[in-house]
Amino acid sequence: MVSSIYLSGPLNRKTGMRHQGFTIRPGLAAEHIDLACDLFWEAFRQKLSLIMKPEDKALAFIKRVIGTDHAISAVSDDGQLLGVAGFKTQHGAFIGGDLEDLSLIYGWWGGLWRGLLLDMLDRDLADDILLMDGIFVDPVARGRGVGTALLDAVAQSARERGLAKVRLDVIDINPRARALYERCGFRAIETNHIGPFRHLFGFQSSTTMHLDLQNAPV
Ligand SMILES: CC(C)(COP(=O)(O)OP(=O)(O)OC[C@H]1O[C@@H](n2cnc3c(N)ncnc32)[C@H](O)[C@@H]1OP(=O)(O)O)[C@@H](O)C(=O)NCCC(=O)NCCS
Repeated sequence: MVSSIYLSGPLNRKTGMRHQGFTIRPGLAAEHIDLACDLFWEAFRQKLSLIMKPEDKALAFIKRVIGTDHAISAVSDDGQLLGVAGFKTQHGAFIGGDLEDLSLIYGWWGGLWRGLLLDMLDRDLADDILLMDGIFVDPVARGRGVGTALLDAVAQSARERGLAKVRLDVIDINPRARALYERCGFRAIETNHIGPFRHLFGFQSSTTMHLDLQNAPV
């Protein structure tokens, strides 16, 4: 029950933020949930597939746990979902879930081992930092400024909540996303190597990046 807190955030719920051909809106509308689950899976499949497959179960899990009030959406002028930026707070996450959710989809043993491995990807919350929980744009809409607009909206949302920073984590095999974050003002803080687990997740290291809202242009 967090929607009243998050949907009453800085973005005007009715009008959102207008851009050329699309609008940025707080939350994720009910009619966009299915596509958001598909796009999330498409975007993060490479990293998650060995743990979350088979695909039908992965999608069922994502659909079960998706937190529509922990999202900012980009919607085209004709009402299509173009992209989403998810975030995590003390009250919930865009893609959260616990052992019970995993066990319901994968059975108790399948849920248990997946839960232990997914815990490795979990990041701690801090009081003054908005933690991003995935950003993705429909492949057909990439390279047109949607991702940048979503990142700007996340920063504005954090600012309006009185937070000092936005945090995200980017993996080493995604240098283009990292370049986008750097252009948007994020700075690398630390890089963690995951050792032998690289064979499971398909990447070797993850870099934590911060956007310092006190110094970022409004
Ligand atoms: C990263 C992503 C959200 C950027 O969204 P976008 O709407 O294409 O971003 P913008 O149009 O505002 O900016 C384009 C920049 O995004 C970055 N980018 C990363 N992957 C890209 C892709 N597949 N296509 C286009 N741009 C991409 C590049 O820096 C690009 O700039 P460039 O064209 O000069 O290389 C989007 O590409 C995406 O969903 N990628 C897959 C999921 C993902 O990697 N998420 C980030 C996990 S940390």
